[in-house]
Amino acid sequence: MLRTNTCGELRKTDIGKTVTLCGWIDTRRDHGGLIFTDLRDRWGVTQLVFNPERNSEIHEKAEKIRTEYVVRVQGKVEARPAGTANPKLPTGEVEILVDHFDVLNSSPTPPFEISENADVSEDIRLKYRFLDIRRPSMLRNLTQRYRITRIAREYFDGLGFLEIETPFLTKSTPEGSRDFLVPSRLNPGTFYALPQSPQLFKQILMVAGIDRYFQIVRCFRDEDLRADRQPEHTQIDVEMSFVEENDVMSIMEGLLARVLREVRGVEVKPPFRRISYHDAMNQYGSDKPDLRFDLKIRDYSDALRGSGFNAFEEVLKSGGVVKGVCVPGGSQFSRKDIDDLTKVANSAGAKGLAWMKVKDGGEVDSPIKKFFDKSILDKVVSESGAKSGDLLLAVADEWHTACVALGVLRLELARRLKLADKEKIELCWVVDFPLFDYDTEEKRLVAMHHPFTSPKPEDIPLFEKEPLKVRARAYDIVLNGEEIGGGSIRIHQREVQELMFKTLGIGKEEAEQKFGFLLSALVFGAPPHGGIAIGLDRLTAMLMGLDSIRDTIAFPKTQKGVCPMTEAPSNVSAKQLKELHIQTKL
Ligand code: AMO
Ligand code: AMP
Repeated sequence: MLRTNTCGELRKTDIGKTVTLCGWIDTRRDHGGLIFTDLRDRWGVTQLVFNPERNSEIHEKAEKIRTEYVVRVQGKVEARPAGTANPKLPTGEVEILVDHFDVLNSSPTPPFEISENADVSEDIRLKYRFLDIRRPSMLRNLTQRYRITRIAREYFDGLGFLEIETPFLTKSTPEGSRDFLVPSRLNPGTFYALPQSPQLFKQILMVAGIDRYFQIVRCFRDEDLRADRQPEHTQIDVEMSFVEENDVMSIMEGLLARVLREVRGVEVKPPFRRISYHDAMNQYGSDKPDLRFDLKIRDYSDALRGSGFNAFEEVLKSGGVVKGVCVPGGSQFSRKDIDDLTKVANSAGAKGLAWMKVKDGGEVDSPIKKFFDKSILDKVVSESGAKSGDLLLAVADEWHTACVALGVLRLELARRLKLADKEKIELCWVVDFPLFDYDTEEKRLVAMHHPFTSPKPEDIPLFEKEPLKVRARAYDIVLNGEEIGGGSIRIHQREVQELMFKTLGIGKEEAEQKFGFLLSALVFGAPPHGGIAIGLDRLTAMLMGLDSIRDTIAFPKTQKGVCPMTEAPSNVSAKQLKELHIQTKL
């Protein structure tokens, strides 16, 4: 080794030792004669002292070093003079009096300071990611991410799971996103798809008798990117045989409890709360409810029926609902605040946002007050539990639209009123999802999760006439309002799988061409099986309190899918394209 110790290691007990350290020059302070510099590596910083009286040659050399130079120093560990210890640094009680030093490499002035306070754009951080990762917070993020994967590997190993790799060069698997394609040179004109997940392979491993599989695996999806989405993300992917919903859920609860304990120092007690999809939508306006704050959505349809307000009456007569939230202390919102909230509700699909401020004695102030009898207003106020100073916000619409709009509004209100405690951890399972969703653009049924999710057996008779009422044996795990994972019990009988494809409008021939290998495996004694995948990037970001999953990934892509460091994606040579029999036409 080039060194005897790391820069985070030396303590009072090392005083008197001669040590050799390697690292980067962090900060430099010239105090007339003495030069102080901090030497940094992954483990911390240690103060170096160059004293001209002790060694003038070394001191002269030290005057030439700059930040981010890589150096190797040898010297004696000394106590810092009385009153100069730094209690914030683990090495803050000692310093090294340098006797020898070599510059191992120089560096130009970096484009940004390697510190937490540097005001620097994300593009520049990503372009110089090798400098960005030198910052303590990035190092911490990558370290914690690694710890989560280590805990997962130990946990699953202890329970008899095998980690098995599945191909990256494969056939399209339908997780509902677009595929990344890779042309095959050896088979001109054909393409591999990068897997959106190992879904079909892990199911086939169950047919193969593996029984308990897991894999920490990259998944590729050509999606429009956001703060919580990357074109390649990592899943903690799990599949088990001879299990039901609760078995998979309790195995994952054990993992999450351990991760939370070891990474966040938080104790959570399984079983986690379970909420049906219907209740989650109805009360929180989202299938990934943030339970750190209350602000529940209530239904005022019955209380409001029979008023003279047309906007509500028409909705109610056509089978819609009037739902709303009561905002504690919301009466202080100005006209402009309410206009802004109305815009939020509109952008989430609401046609309008009705409001009512509750004053002393239960009196209300509202632009639509005149349309309602006092008895109706009293009933609404009493049902909402609103107190003087509160604000009631309501949306009249078809159930789903009203729920979604109020769900978005609920999150916006929580943001404005700072209702979500950042330290709190609220986990829940969302269960009883519908099996199908209706795609209004394409005017057809689509799978809510993926087409291999099992329906509840008792709902199979509804397939033909009321497919939207069929419930799935699916479950999502939600942490503080973010979906960190999802899975299901799968279809293990070929007939049910074929019925599923048929209902989705996937013809026999198409099913055979796309998933023939799965259908053929299912007939060879497929066991009942189910599984789940946790989004590792999202889990890490949530546990570290980060706004973007990019900060948990060493080399992420920007919102445009670009890597500013390598400049991928980029043009390729005409020769490469020719070998692949590909022509581009922009
Ligand atoms: P699903 O598509 O729900 O399920 O993905 C599982 C989890 O992966 C995370 N995730 C993402 N994270 C970052 N960027 C993305 N683009 C991205 N897409 C998904 C989410 C999500 O909850 N094969 C099934 C799992 C199963 O049924 O076992 C699957 O992939 O946290
Ligand atoms: P209007 O009759 O369109 O002028 O609306 C009067 C008030 O009722 C405005 O504050 C609207 O935002 C509100 N409003 C209209 N339609 C709805 C609706 N579907 N849900 C909630 N509020 C509505």
